[in-house]
Amino acid sequence: MSARKIAPSILAADFANLAADIERVAADADLLHVDCMDGHYVPNLTIGPPVVKALRKHTDLPLDCHLMVSNPGVLLRDFADAGADGCTVHVELGDPRPLLDRIHTLGMRAGLVFEPETPFDKVEPYLGDIEMLLVMSVRTGYGGQSFIASVLDKARAARAAIDARKLNVEIEIDGGIKIDNARLAADAGVDILVSGTGIFGRPDPAAAIRAMRAAAWG
Ligand code: DX5
Ligand code: ZN
Repeated sequence: MSARKIAPSILAADFANLAADIERVAADADLLHVDCMDGHYVPNLTIGPPVVKALRKHTDLPLDCHLMVSNPGVLLRDFADAGADGCTVHVELGDPRPLLDRIHTLGMRAGLVFEPETPFDKVEPYLGDIEMLLVMSVRTGYGGQSFIASVLDKARAARAAIDARKLNVEIEIDGGIKIDNARLAADAGVDILVSGTGIFGRPDPAAAIRAMRAAAWG
């Protein structure tokens, strides 16, 4: 049974009016996806723990921090202190176990993420060490890219492995998710839909969340 959650990505919100934009989705969102980019793991540069700390004062929604950074280890304590609920690290950086352990030690939920070109067998050994597996459906770095449908095979493989082992791991998908492809992801066994431009790029973000939920699981 899927957890059925929608996570607006604040990357597509108005950074000069973050509190107001969050307020617009607060009643309909299940968590907030926070894209942290360091200008090194990806060329783009976004936000980090100081903004998470500022957001924490404005919302009780879980803050789901996606760390597109080359050296997450040095930032994890700051994310925890800022009030992050979960931190997700990239398997492309190498053996994630020390980072996952550290995330747990700091009292956060641990997520592992893999890029579209990375095969499922790279993350499979760590399913027992995480609360969330994030399947990227675009190459990380920017919002507003086109959904790569071929990653759904990896979501299906993850669903099968998690169910077969009766693990308590949520599957999240991120990149190019819109109302019109939400069902494809849900049918592949995804629990959490991340959407940036598909929500904040719409005139009524709350209505977009409701429409996405109905499209995916209605
Ligand atoms: C991309 C980020 C995504 C991004 C999604 O590197 O990880 O979370 O915000 O944006 P959309 O939904 O616009 O593709
Ligand atoms: Zn993300």
